[in-house]
Amino acid sequence: MARSLLSWLGGCLLMSALGMVPPPENVRMNSVNFKNILRWESPAFPKGNLTFTAQYQSYRKFQDTCTSILLTECDFSSLSKYGDHTLRVRAEFADESSEWINITFCPVDDTTIGPPRMQVEALANSLHVRFFAPRIENEPEPWTMRNIYNSWTYHVRYWKNGSDEKFSISGQYDFEFLRNLESQTTYCVQVRGFLSDRKKAGEWSEPVCEQTTIDD
Ligand SMILES: *[C@@H]1O[C@H](CO)[C@@H](O)[C@H](O)[C@H]1NC(C)=O
Ligand SMILES: *[C@@H]1O[C@H](CO)[C@@H](O)[C@H](O)[C@H]1NC(C)=O
Ligand SMILES: *[C@@H]1O[C@H](CO)[C@@H](O)[C@H](O)[C@H]1NC(C)=O
Repeated sequence: MARSLLSWLGGCLLMSALGMVPPPENVRMNSVNFKNILRWESPAFPKGNLTFTAQYQSYRKFQDTCTSILLTECDFSSLSKYGDHTLRVRAEFADESSEWINITFCPVDDTTIGPPRMQVEALANSLHVRFFAPRIENEPEPWTMRNIYNSWTYHVRYWKNGSDEKFSISGQYDFEFLRNLESQTTYCVQVRGFLSDRKKAGEWSEPVCEQTTIDD
């Protein structure tokens, strides 16, 4: 008991003698549509505010993406979408720094597919739905997630508002007709991207509800 207390005390004394800085905690990549934000939490450190440096490995060498920042996140969206990247982050105080915390990240495999947008036009017995695949930031104008993944498919589900019975269809085009609906009835529609070769589903959009028109 006394011994372990002593060694614990010894460890603390050693740590403060060496001015050891604790590393960032809970380091994780938050990536949606290739917007890659590395996040972490600042460890408890009573002596003052820590700064952080985050790097990626390019060939053999590490390069700074964020240098001595107070923020607890760093934007890695300019990384190549392909291949495994090694990223690392450390905490710093005065001339001391913590060990590096490393993570590996492959954007094209790991990024989350955000929800597509949708426009819904109501007719008497059908809805005409147009989809817009999620945009990719940091790319020249009209690049969307669909341009990156050959097997991109839209999964659509729809239901009569208030009913539990849902219908599903899928397709590769940017539009879909939902047919054989009842007139003057409100239907709700949701869409997500799906990569059939990877069996990877994106996030569902919020439902859009429209009332079909009167028969004529
Ligand atoms: C630490 O950061 C906070 C908020 O950014 C600031 O108000 C405070 O003055 C800083 N403390 C030191 C010692 O720099
Ligand atoms: C991070 O990687 C470096 C070298 O690749 C290694 O020395 C270090 O121990 C690693 N850090 C952690 C927390 O695993
Ligand atoms: C859907 O139905 C609920 C009641 O079942 C109603 O409160 C809601 O306003 C309806 N939504 C639309 C968009 O019509």
